[in-house]
Amino acid sequence: MSEFDFLVDRQSSDSKKWAKYRAREIIPMWVADMDFRCPQPVLEAIRRRVDHGVFGYTEIPASLIEIVVARLESRYRWMVEESDILFSPGLVPALNQICRGLVKPGGAVVTAVPVYRPFIDAPGNMNRDLITLEMSEQDNWRFPVAELARQVAARPEIDLLLLCNPLNPLGRMLSVGEMQEIVAICDRYDVKICSDEIHCELVLDGRQHTPIASISQRAADITITLMAASKTFNLAGLGCAVAIAENELLREQYRKAGEGIMANVNTFGYVATEAAWTDCADWHEALLVYLAANRDYVYDRCQEIRGIRVNRVEATYLAWLNIQELDLSDPLGHFEKAGVGLSSGDEFYGLGYMRLNFGCPRSLLEEGLNRIEKACNG
Ligand SMILES: Cc1ncc(COP(=O)(O)O)c(C=O)c1O
Repeated sequence: MSEFDFLVDRQSSDSKKWAKYRAREIIPMWVADMDFRCPQPVLEAIRRRVDHGVFGYTEIPASLIEIVVARLESRYRWMVEESDILFSPGLVPALNQICRGLVKPGGAVVTAVPVYRPFIDAPGNMNRDLITLEMSEQDNWRFPVAELARQVAARPEIDLLLLCNPLNPLGRMLSVGEMQEIVAICDRYDVKICSDEIHCELVLDGRQHTPIASISQRAADITITLMAASKTFNLAGLGCAVAIAENELLREQYRKAGEGIMANVNTFGYVATEAAWTDCADWHEALLVYLAANRDYVYDRCQEIRGIRVNRVEATYLAWLNIQELDLSDPLGHFEKAGVGLSSGDEFYGLGYMRLNFGCPRSLLEEGLNRIEKACNG
């Protein structure tokens, strides 16, 4: 039995994922956190910090900045300076802060959908316009570069592209070719890029992630990259994310947009992130094996379920189910009635799809898929 097979009771921990269906017989497979305990070295580091007993305002640990720089170099051959690194209590606040700082009032943000919901909401939160580009299954969910070029050429008010790579909810990774085209277009029309790469350590089958900012000097000059240990090591409740901006002007615009508003990172967020990125390589490797097997299990089961189609995702622990054939008027309610809580595709601007989180013990996944099968046959 693997440590990932162990079913932890999360009902008692105010888990957002589990609280949604408290007292209802519904397996939560929606929000993107995993049902696994985080690695021992993280737990030990937090315990050591708890034992210290004083939790006043905390500086960014110099050792953590060094770890981030070294990790970017060792994993992606991406060389950045320590001064390029900024910390934030989360990627979502950082996305909003970037819309505020890098987009002029009256300006617009472009993003490709379906995409993680806060991409759709952040521009409006900051009184900036949102322009969406459609990706489609018929086109293998390729990034719509031609449409991006058309939009930015036609609309000079576009200041920023919000990019998600690997893509949530699609579970695919952008190719270097796509990234080169994106950078060429953005550079030509003076559009900056915010690249949310929170899922970049969850790439499966030995694939290699490439940060868009690392592909060329031009890319580095126009990009702010967002990363975190939170998805990979299941630390989302601890609130710690990293922004990397090699261009000093972008860094300053970003920093200024958060002045007086953005909270400090939680002390435990720093501690956990440092331990995760220092001492947890074996756990990480085992996790990716477990997730790939769960991904295959979802794929195999869905081959047998009438009305559902799914791809084998390249990254993340999120499967994107095509349910169009079922022709449901209330897809979320339909699956909830069968005892499984998925995310509805329209949340991501992906009508006719549901997102399933398979970052859970296999036994739970099996039961979830049994219920999905019943919902489709019933
Ligand atoms: C693409 C993407 N960005 C950001 C987040 C959330 O980031 P945070 O919890 O740091 O705000 C998620 C969570 O699912 C995500 O999928």
